[in-house]
Amino acid sequence: MPEPTLLSLQLDHLNELQNRYETALAGQGYDSLLIASGAAPYRYGDDQAWHFQGYGPFLHWTGLTGREHSWLWLRPGCRPILWLFEPVDFWHANPALPEEPWQQAFDIRSRAEAGAPTLENPGRLAVIGDPGELGDIAGDHNPAGLLRTLDETRVHKTAYEIACLAEANGRALAGHRAARDAFAEGESEFGISLAYQQATRQREADAPYHSIIGLNEHAGTLHYQYYDTRPTGRPRSLLIDAGVRYRGYCSDITRTTAGPGESRFAALVQGMDVLQQRLCGMVAPGVDYVDIHRKAHQGVAALLSASGLVTGLDDSAMVEQGITRAFFPHGIGHFLGVQVHDVAGKPTPPPDDAPFLRLNRRLESGMVLTIEPGLYFIPSLLDPLLASPLGKHLDTALLAELRGCGGIRIEDNIAVTESGAQNLTRNGTV
Ligand code: GLY
Ligand code: MN
Ligand code: MN
Repeated sequence: MPEPTLLSLQLDHLNELQNRYETALAGQGYDSLLIASGAAPYRYGDDQAWHFQGYGPFLHWTGLTGREHSWLWLRPGCRPILWLFEPVDFWHANPALPEEPWQQAFDIRSRAEAGAPTLENPGRLAVIGDPGELGDIAGDHNPAGLLRTLDETRVHKTAYEIACLAEANGRALAGHRAARDAFAEGESEFGISLAYQQATRQREADAPYHSIIGLNEHAGTLHYQYYDTRPTGRPRSLLIDAGVRYRGYCSDITRTTAGPGESRFAALVQGMDVLQQRLCGMVAPGVDYVDIHRKAHQGVAALLSASGLVTGLDDSAMVEQGITRAFFPHGIGHFLGVQVHDVAGKPTPPPDDAPFLRLNRRLESGMVLTIEPGLYFIPSLLDPLLASPLGKHLDTALLAELRGCGGIRIEDNIAVTESGAQNLTRNGTV
């Protein structure tokens, strides 16, 4: 059972959601809202479904990630009705909900049918969820204006949500420590994944995203998606980007470790850690997140210069001429919540110099986001750079040596507070 404070914060969270959703519905002219939890589609030509993780707004209210074909009906001034799909079925289990206070805030009903429940007097009804699930249910399906407003209700996290995100961080850190130990023992990517799962007590399919575990040059593929089952002969580097879900809420943490004897790479990792902490220190209300992204590019330029990888250009020229983009091609981070890349980060398109940035808003208290600078040796980006007129500024021998280490990313999860920020990841240590 989670601690009483968290359970009591959850009741406040639900009250707050009721207020936010009532305002959103009134603003868009709706009398009630039906939310589908979703269902995992079957693979084409197969009788096996993809692993299921529920729809964001359903998780926002219930935190129940594994409940397919369930429905939540919201009406102003009324207790929400939650229909849980509990078929009579000897193939699959219907897990019981652990008794917790939040259930008193709902009228919870069990249903054996997968389709939408019949609603009494829904008034002007909006229905949201995977369009494939909504079929011919009455009401407006996924109205764009309402969806935008509902996404906005997820931007400022309640105290309950921040507590869950902090716990998801604490649990993931145990996994990151185990992963680092497994790397030191010479384990394969697969072995490191097992160590992570064991320490987090979470099967990988239930994690917020597929763990990214890259040894050596694999660390240079941003979302490297395979696991070698055999140990590498020479473990030069480990990049692990892995999180945990806790009561629906995600952590998203990356650590990079240099192997034995990799002093140059270790120095770069150390420099990146200092830069990452400096960037985390910029997080505060009123700060434009795009400025943190731009500061990261200046920091990467300084690292390239200090390490001797790039010479003969000052830091601003390295940024302006696109050299830092070849080493750090992704955005500095994103919102985090019941989805790892949480919604509403980009009300406007990202600026030209940050095409992959998933968050371009001015920061406000209650937002939770990641700070994840990187520096990678990616052949498809470096080779054209080396072949261009800028190539003369790069130390080819040093690059050739470091390519085998793949790359570096360091990622923490940060909550914006009234006066600054709270690092949810480094409250523990790793
Ligand atoms: N783990 C994916 C990301 O960091 O955005
Ligand atoms: Mn991330
Ligand atoms: Mn990540």
